[in-house]
This record gives sequence, C-alpha cells and structure tokens, in this order.
Amino acid sequence: MKTLIIYGSKHGCSEKCAIKLSEKLNFKTDVFNVKHKKNIDFKSYDKVIIGGSIYIGNIQKEVKKFCLDNIEILKEKKIGLYICSMSDGEKAEELIKTSFPEELISRAISKAYFGGELILNKMNLFEKFIIKKVTKLDEDTSNIRDNNIARLAETFNRI
Ligand SMILES: Cc1cc2nc3c(=O)[nH]c(=O)nc-3n(C[C@H](O)[C@H](O)[C@H](O)COP(=O)(O)O)c2cc1C
Repeated sequence: MKTLIIYGSKHGCSEKCAIKLSEKLNFKTDVFNVKHKKNIDFKSYDKVIIGGSIYIGNIQKEVKKFCLDNIEILKEKKIGLYICSMSDGEKAEELIKTSFPEELISRAISKAYFGGELILNKMNLFEKFIIKKVTKLDEDTSNIRDNNIARLAETFNRI
C-alpha cells in the first residue's frame, strides 16, 4: 500500500512542504495538487495526508471540497493533516480546527502546522496591498518549520 499526500497551494509553500514530507516518509508516496488530480484510486493508499495553506483565515476551498466529497473513504484511512500559514501557536491550532472536517480531525494520527512563506513577487497587487498593510513587511519571509514536518513524518513512519 502507498501513502498519498494531497495538497492545495497558491504560491508554492504548501507544495514545497508536501515534497519535503514525502522525502522523509519510508513508504512509496504519491504527491498530488488537489487542483490537478481528479480521479484518485483510493484503494492503493492506506495513509492519506491532506494539506493546504491559509488565506484570510481560510484553507483553499478545493481542500475543503476534497475532504467533504471523500469523507467516507477518508474515514477508512490513516489520516494526517497540515496547514501552512504565518500564524503560530494557538492561532495555528485554531486554524487547523477550522480548516478540516471534525470527523477527520478527531481521527487524524497527526495534525501539524508547517509554517509559511511570504514571497512578494508571487503575489498579485491586491495580495501585496493586504500583506504590506497587515504585516508592514517589505521583503520576503520564510518560516517553514522543518521540525514539524519531520515530526509528522516520524509519526507516520512508526505506524
Ligand atoms: C493575501 C494573503 C492572505 C493571507 N492570510 C493569512 C491569514 O489569514 N492567516 C495566516 O496565518 N496566514 C495568512 N497568509 C499567509 C499564507 O498562509 C502563507 O503565505 C502560506 O505560506 C501560503 O502558502 P502557499 O504558498 O502554499 O499558497 C496570507 C497570505 C497572503 C498572500
């Protein structure tokens, strides 16, 4: 059986984290962008890790839809969940809770916050305006949490 990592990503951080995670797993792992992969052969996977990134308090709608459309089959798998965002600590914990259906959160073997990146030249004008206003930032920032990625991988490698 294989492991599936399926992620949503607008500017590439959640994708980068999905790839880093796949490199740390001791199983054959497929990594798909939820936007590009339509028909998934769930029979091949016993573990499914779902990730996405947060924009104005919400995870990508495609990630939410993927979870809801496949909830019954996902309930039969070993589930991992992660988000990418600039929020930390309790705020990040709260975002995980609001990003995924309760039925998956309560069953998940591991839930994690992988940090985030703000890359100004990947943003459109509206995004740049919001980010500059909210964060006062005028240069790129990256705070990807490699430790949290490694911890989630270790949890899965033990089961
Ligand atoms: C327009 C915009 C809105 C954002 N809103 C939030 C937010 O509400 N909370 C948060 O913690 N991070 C927020 N972020 C940070 C993103 O979650 C972070 O940049 C993440 O790494 C993006 O992942 P991606 O590259 O996979 O799309 C926002 C970023 C942008 C550009």
